[in-house]
Amino acid sequence: MAKTERVYIYTVFERFWHWTQAILVIGLAWTGFMIHFGRDTFEANPAGQSAYVAYRELHQNMAWAFVVLIAFAIFWHFVTGEWKQYLPTRKYLVGMVRFYTVGIFRHEPHPVKKSQISKLNPLQRIAYLGLKILVIPVLVTSGFLYFFYNDIATGGLFANNAMLGTIVAVHTFAAYLLIAFMFGHIYLTTTGHTPTSNIKAMVTGWEEIEVDDDETPVDAATPAPTAT
Ligand code: HEM
Repeated sequence: MAKTERVYIYTVFERFWHWTQAILVIGLAWTGFMIHFGRDTFEANPAGQSAYVAYRELHQNMAWAFVVLIAFAIFWHFVTGEWKQYLPTRKYLVGMVRFYTVGIFRHEPHPVKKSQISKLNPLQRIAYLGLKILVIPVLVTSGFLYFFYNDIATGGLFANNAMLGTIVAVHTFAAYLLIAFMFGHIYLTTTGHTPTSNIKAMVTGWEEIEVDDDETPVDAATPAPTAT
């Protein structure tokens, strides 16, 4: 059994942001897909109509909360310099792909180790960056275009209602992408030192990290001795 050391990885704000975001995304996905798949059923009966209105209001209120949270998170990332955690790197990228596809099933050690200054492995950097600069902005922008569609359309920005169909399709597609990410993310949280060590770290801030023989935690920028 490899030696481990407790390392403080996630700050209070980071953990608050992570779990609040998780709750809001699950809530937005739930209300959004209730609207998407339930629209016809809801509209067909009087009791359903008030449920439909409630889902829409809930979705919109959570969307505003999500935007406020995103604003705080952007501010925090730039003030603390944490945005650098997402800078993509090719270093150990192939090693990570091999680990997730082969090594993990052979109980091989993780090719890169986590530290407070380098929390994400090269694959996580790419996935999280894509989420932050592509999927979430598309979701939020299409959501607001949807929300303010009547005002914008009346203002003459869109020539006809055909644009609404495109906005709904883009919003729904981005929602599916975010949910796909969430499933992958939840599965990968179980692949840490123990199945729950990553989740516990996001609750307490502290994580058990494997150390070298000299008991020094291995920095994420450094490959573990046995990495390929
Ligand atoms: C700031 C973020 C967001 C905004 C402003 C927003 C806004 C909206 C609006 C205005 C609607 C139309 C509701 C209605 O019929 O009145 C909607 C529908 C929907 N939203 Fe969002 N939303 C956001 C985030 C999300 C997220 C994170 C998800 C899922 C992960 C999501 C999934 C959906 C889905 C599936 C629909 C139904 C689309 C349809 O068939 O009409 N939304 N959203």
